[in-house]
Amino acid sequence: MKTVLEKLDTENIDERIIKKAGTILREGGLVAFPTETVYGLGGDALNPQSSQKIYVAKGRPSDNPLIVHIAKLEQLEDIAKDIPKDAYKMAEKFWPGPLTMILHKKSCVPKETTGGLETVAVRMPFHQGALKLIEESGGFIAAPSANRSGRPSPTKASHVIDDLYGLIDMILDGGQVGIGLESTIIDMSEEKPVILRPGFVTKKMLKEICSEIETDPGIGNNIGKEREPKAPGMKYRHYAPYGQLIVVEGEEKKVISTINYLVQERRMQGKRTGVLALEETKKAYVSDIVKSIGSRHNEEEIARSLFSALREFDELGVDFIYSEAFYTPHMGQAIMNRLLKAAGYTVVQAK
Ligand code: TXA
Ligand code: MG
Repeated sequence: MKTVLEKLDTENIDERIIKKAGTILREGGLVAFPTETVYGLGGDALNPQSSQKIYVAKGRPSDNPLIVHIAKLEQLEDIAKDIPKDAYKMAEKFWPGPLTMILHKKSCVPKETTGGLETVAVRMPFHQGALKLIEESGGFIAAPSANRSGRPSPTKASHVIDDLYGLIDMILDGGQVGIGLESTIIDMSEEKPVILRPGFVTKKMLKEICSEIETDPGIGNNIGKEREPKAPGMKYRHYAPYGQLIVVEGEEKKVISTINYLVQERRMQGKRTGVLALEETKKAYVSDIVKSIGSRHNEEEIARSLFSALREFDELGVDFIYSEAFYTPHMGQAIMNRLLKAAGYTVVQAK
């Protein structure tokens, strides 16, 4: 398939390009586009064939439901029913923005889009280009992250090109995304709201609206105590680089000496090693490749760089990647959720 590449300048959106992309979506085709979190692979959410095409292009298991993106609050009631009051409050506070809510679906949403579930995930993104595209396409875009299933989510158009070029109709290049981790997912379809995936919108922020919010114990930040997560997509191996990723936790000095020791050991075996560190610690490592993920004082930078750094190690053909842990105050839970998943929960305590 021929994939058309177009630039999408958020400061100066070219209506012609939005029209072209909107037409592809209306006709059942697939368009990758930037959002504020990660790039999405869009298809018409109300067209079962479009959703099927998304699964094929991504190589994604078809029991893993898609998020439906809307551009106006009124559209929520076209696709969801029995919407609780707190969901409206959350929408008012966090939409447009990086929050996805799970709600009971109306019959117009095909099972192909929801992976067979009776609930639907809905998000209104903040990205101006994404909002325009949603309107132009008819109002409902199903969009998972625009990576091949299992790969780190795309935060730049080049990541989408690497994974999906030739498999989809169009890629809109809006440059690097702002947040770099996928939206927070909260399940509003049951009695108590439950966070199914941590993101930029934290539990603390959500608790300002509803005091009784729980976190799905299955999201797996409790090493060794993993349970089946409620969001089907959270159970699959995810975000994984080709090299083996190992997270080393503990006090800084010990982390540095442990990583240097492990790197040395692998180098003696003839393996190529990489270290994922902070701006402040990167000089302390002796590995073949050392990458800084950002300053410890800039957690937004850490979040934004994570997936990109994992992909860069792949390009450099690294066999083993040792990473520090990044438990930053606001987004630390989301950052570590992705990093630990990418590592398949391989964690070493620094000695
Ligand atoms: O930031 C984001 O949310 C990005 C951008 C493109 O908007 N999208 C994204 O989609 O991350 P995806 O497909 O990569 O992740 C969606 C997650 C999956 O883990 C899926 O299982 C879960 O949401 N999900 C979707 N619908 C669900 C439902 N009805 N019930 C429970 N989990 C659901
Ligand atoms: Mg994804």
